[in-house]
Parts: sequence; C-alpha cells; structure tokens
Amino acid sequence: MSNKNELIPKMATTGNALFGAADVPGDKSISHRVLILGALTVGETKVRGLLESSDVLNTAKAMQAFGAEVIENNDKTWSIFGVGVGGFSEPDKVIDCGNSGTGIRLIMGAMATSSITATFTGDESLVTRPMARVLEPLEKFGAKSISRSDGLLPLTIEGSSNPISINYSSLIPSAQIKSAVLLAALNSPGTSVFNEPQISRDHTENMLSAFGANITVSSTEKGNSISIVGYPEFTPQNIVVPGDPSSAAFPICAALIVKGSRITLKNICYNPTRNGLIITLCEMGADIKINNSRHLNGEVVVDIVVSASKLEGVEVPVDRVVSMIDEFPILAVVASVAEGTTVMRGLKELRVKESDRISAMFRGLKSNGIDVREGEDSLTICGAGANNVPGGATVKTFFDHRIAMSFLCLGLVSQNPITIDDSRSIDTSFPSFFGLMEKLGADIQ
Ligand code: S3P
Repeated sequence: MSNKNELIPKMATTGNALFGAADVPGDKSISHRVLILGALTVGETKVRGLLESSDVLNTAKAMQAFGAEVIENNDKTWSIFGVGVGGFSEPDKVIDCGNSGTGIRLIMGAMATSSITATFTGDESLVTRPMARVLEPLEKFGAKSISRSDGLLPLTIEGSSNPISINYSSLIPSAQIKSAVLLAALNSPGTSVFNEPQISRDHTENMLSAFGANITVSSTEKGNSISIVGYPEFTPQNIVVPGDPSSAAFPICAALIVKGSRITLKNICYNPTRNGLIITLCEMGADIKINNSRHLNGEVVVDIVVSASKLEGVEVPVDRVVSMIDEFPILAVVASVAEGTTVMRGLKELRVKESDRISAMFRGLKSNGIDVREGEDSLTICGAGANNVPGGATVKTFFDHRIAMSFLCLGLVSQNPITIDDSRSIDTSFPSFFGLMEKLGADIQ
C-alpha cells in the first residue's frame, strides 16, 4: 500500500444499461501457479493470457529472485525458463509480495524444502495477515522460520536441507495452505499427504498433474485427501490462462442489477471449486447462461451471458462458502439491490482477507443506506429493492480491490452516486476494470 496522500478516488453514477462483450483478464490463482511451477521446471514454459496485475508481477519478480528467467515476449505471451525442483538459488534481496497472500504463501511453500534462506514481506495489508497457518506445516517438513509475533511478516524461512515428507490435516479450508504444502512436498522424499476439511480451489492439483507430478486426489467424508510423490521430473507446458471468474463477478453482478443490461463474457474459468457465486445468483433469480463449456489445460472454460434480472434474497449454504470465498463483497451488493433478506454465514475467513471484508462491507453498505447486520462470521442484508438504494456516501476501501470494485458496482444503481476513497488497489487483480466497465457502458469517473 503506498502513500495515503496519493489516494485516487472514483465515483460511480447510475446511467445506461450495460451492453456488449468484454474480455476479462486471466485468472489470478492460475497465473501465480504457472509462474511458480514454470520456475520449478527445466525448459521453457510458455503462457498466454497471464494476468499482468501487480500481485502476479510480484510473483514473477520473486521467481526471478530465486533464479528462474521470466520474460515478457512481444506477442502477449510470457516465457518461464525454470531451474527444476530443488534448483532454487538463494535470493539476495527481500521477497516483497506486495498485497498478495496467495503469492507469498505459495512461494514460501515452494522454497521451504530447499537449503536456502529467504526473507519475505508485503504491503501494509499483507503484514497484518496470518502466516502461521503456512509456517506450521512447513516446519513439519523441517523448515525453520523467524517472524514477528503471531507469525506476522516480515519473516525469514530457513529451508530444510534434509526435508521429510508429511501427512498434514488442515483445520482451515484454504487452497493457499494446501498449495504451500503440495509445493513443499515436491522437494521432499516419498509421499506427502494433505487432508483438507472442505474442498478448496484445486488449480494447484490440476496444474501439478499437467506438469507431470504423481498426484492422487481422493475424497474423504469431508473434503479431499491429496497425495503427492516427491522429486518429480516436470515437463514444460504451454498454458493458456482462462478469464478470472472472481474478476468476471463484477461485470456479471453489475449487469444483473443495472436495468436493461445484457453482456457476454467469453473464456471464463468455470472450475466447480469456484462456481458458488453463479449458483447462488441463479437461486436469487438471475438470468445467467453458461455456454460453450470446454476443457483447457485441465480447467473447465465457458462463455457467460448475463441479463438484468429481478432478484430475491437467499440464504447461502455454509458448505458453499469455500467455492465463493472471494465473491461475498459483490454478493452483498447484489443482496442490497434484491428484494428480501440474504443471509451469509460461515464467513470467518473473510476477516483475514486483504481487509476485514465483513466489517468493510458492513460499514460501506450502512453508510449508503442499506439495512445490514454484522455478526462475528456473518452478514445479513435486507435488500432495498431495485431503484431504492440510497447511496451518496464515500466508502473506505482499506486498499482492498474487491471492496473497491463492489461499491463502484453498487453506485451504478444507487439513487445518489457512490464514491470510493481510493481505487489503486484494483490494479492488484483487475488492471483493466475501468476500461472494461466503460466499454460496457458504465459511468465511473
Ligand atoms: C486463493 C485462495 C483463497 C482466495 C484467494 C486466492 C488461491 O484464499 O481467497 O484470493 O489462489 O489459492 P484461501 O485459500 O486462503 O481461502
């Protein structure tokens, strides 16, 4: 997070219907993973559609610091010339992952079983986020760490020179913890096992499999148990990164709530571990068509057509939360415009995202005239109904991209414009957000 004096506010105003087709940038989760797996693979991994946002570019820089070559080509592709599993060299500078919890946690996993030492830090938001959840399993592999109290950044990891395989059961449903463990297991002998309490996004498993890892996923009573064999020989891949469903969520929800809208978004990742928002929106009455489903590098990819719809409040099942963990801010916006009450429970993890998203949404919605209640791990919203959102307030976004984009979408239907205090965070995940929304017809200044 940079200097507060440089805040760039933006204001969204009710205007035209949204109309047309737009290109959503590459998936953030897949982009981080391809950079890391490419860096662990000898030879050239070629990537088309990499998300060129600050979060992902920080991961690219980190891979360079560990010895990989990461090159932006002239034809909108990227090439990664990796060093092989166990081939990371010791960085001679601090690894700064900026705003990215995914970047930092996955990279810590990828280096923790090599006999090198690295120091990590991040921006004002990242240094408040819990890292102990990743340090704990990494220490079981034999890595050592020293951090601020409670495992906060900045921290240093001394990778294990003699790693052992582990069998780890996580109490937190988190793809970041899972991925850190799976990446650390690559440079450990034998088979490591990660047991998750609920199924979290599985891009790491899919991509590890594509690169040639010996990985097995079996379902348990609750979530999945993933086994991975150490010391794989990876084969370089050509990866096409599909559009990010978590970024697509903003134009999708904007089109649903702005009267008369109809938009098409092509090539969007529709991984079943990430489609909770679409299912929920359909339960609310959304007119969303999923077309042209196909497979690309182990991921399901679709085209999505969205038309403005009359929406009703719902209760989101708690066991769906993981599959839409990043989408609650924008769902809260849709719930504010719907008729009736929407209840979202089981949101504990939202308190440790880029901001405390339960609190940030509560404050922003309340100041814009929405009837909202905040619980320890829940949000309850009594929808104002279409055309009845008062708006008019300036929202504090806490340098959280999803809070910023959510309130700009709400401003497209509120009676008075909604302003966000700062829009710079949007660059961390969706640098083309303003261009895309403008192309569809949104009035954001
Ligand atoms: C991500 C996992 C999720 C999500 C984040 C991206 C990933 O975090 O919130 O934006 O790419 O693995 P958790 O796994 O910590 O829930």
